[in-house]
Amino acid sequence: MAETTLFVHDLAAAVSPRGSGPLRGRDLGGLQVHSPASVAIAGDRVLAVGAPDEVLRDYPPRPDCETMDGRGKVALPGLVDCHAHPAFLGDRAAEFELRSGGASYEEIHASGGGILSTVEATRRGSEEELTAAVRRHLAWMLEHGTTTAEAKSGYGLDAETEIKSLKAITNAAKGSFIDVSPTFLGAHTVPPEFDTAAEYVGFVVRSALPEAATLARQADVFLERGSFEVPEARRYLEACREHGLAPRLHADQFSERGAIPLAIELGARSVDHLENTGDAGVRLLAKSNVAAVLLPACGLFLDLPLPPARRLADEGAILALATDFNPGSSFTESLPLAMNLACTRLGLSPAESLTACTANAAHVLDLPDVGRLAPGYKADVLVLDAPDWRYLAYHLGGDRFAATIKAGRLVS
Ligand code: NIG
Ligand code: FE
Repeated sequence: MAETTLFVHDLAAAVSPRGSGPLRGRDLGGLQVHSPASVAIAGDRVLAVGAPDEVLRDYPPRPDCETMDGRGKVALPGLVDCHAHPAFLGDRAAEFELRSGGASYEEIHASGGGILSTVEATRRGSEEELTAAVRRHLAWMLEHGTTTAEAKSGYGLDAETEIKSLKAITNAAKGSFIDVSPTFLGAHTVPPEFDTAAEYVGFVVRSALPEAATLARQADVFLERGSFEVPEARRYLEACREHGLAPRLHADQFSERGAIPLAIELGARSVDHLENTGDAGVRLLAKSNVAAVLLPACGLFLDLPLPPARRLADEGAILALATDFNPGSSFTESLPLAMNLACTRLGLSPAESLTACTANAAHVLDLPDVGRLAPGYKADVLVLDAPDWRYLAYHLGGDRFAATIKAGRLVS
């Protein structure tokens, strides 16, 4: 039997989504709570979670085993950020100021700013500079409890810079405590060198996709007015799928234009945003196996309408929550902030919010052994310095971790 290598004893509680796989409907808020609890870890896996006397009896720490006193604290699974854009250079502070004076995100995009200004800055930098930027962004995420994250390209929009971005993500991931799932967002928007979205998609599929597919696990498209419509999104995602990348879509952020039916047709892993999804879209999505990823920090940052979170949850959708970390529409790496907004603005409970950025987010990234604090799962554990796990969502801006454990190692 595996031997305990790290032992966290006498916690006020240990909390995890129940079961396995994605949770939906009534199960979305179904947590397993052990109180009090101890956690035994062997190597990079969770060995046992349960009542302190039982864990101590069955999985006793050896004399050389690392131990941690959990009294007055709670343990939770490491958070999973399933939608993030950390591969960029430069910033959009000037654009943020323009928006504070009333300019809209879409107006700035239409006049050649927005995403395209980050594309310019990202194209100018070297692979080393971009690697350092991704590394810095991953370190910020870890400070907020994220132990697994998606990392999208999408600020290159030419073959060279898209590949440079995916290589920078891979390089940064190697030296990071965060496990990273790279996504090829070659269809983020149409760069100025192309007159039409269709021409650009043809180009990016020919020139970047073959190599991108060796570096990424998933593919993404921004289906929106001013970027890509259904025919080009379908062409891009089908080509990516043929190269083994799982399709995902930025969907219904500013306008509803067919993203959900397309996602279902393609067997996409998720549709993300959904601030403008109407009733028919909610019903279709809730019945499907396509996950609904909500990004409430982006909604706050851009003052978007609220997505139909409660209806999606009640009708049975696989709901996930993410930061959408990026320099333009959501400059935050904090999943606890996203959880707070889900509770205060979207009508989700703390338990639903936790499942949405652990077990269900891991499902979106197709990582079945991540997102739960349960035997056999990857030992990614947050020890929250609070007497109640709900502080994670409740203490706004105050996520205080006594420890972060990544793959069985104490990393902070
Ligand atoms: O998810 N909507 C498209 N992409 C990002 C924003 C990217 C940017 O503004 O740089 C998003 O909001
Ligand atoms: Fe995004």
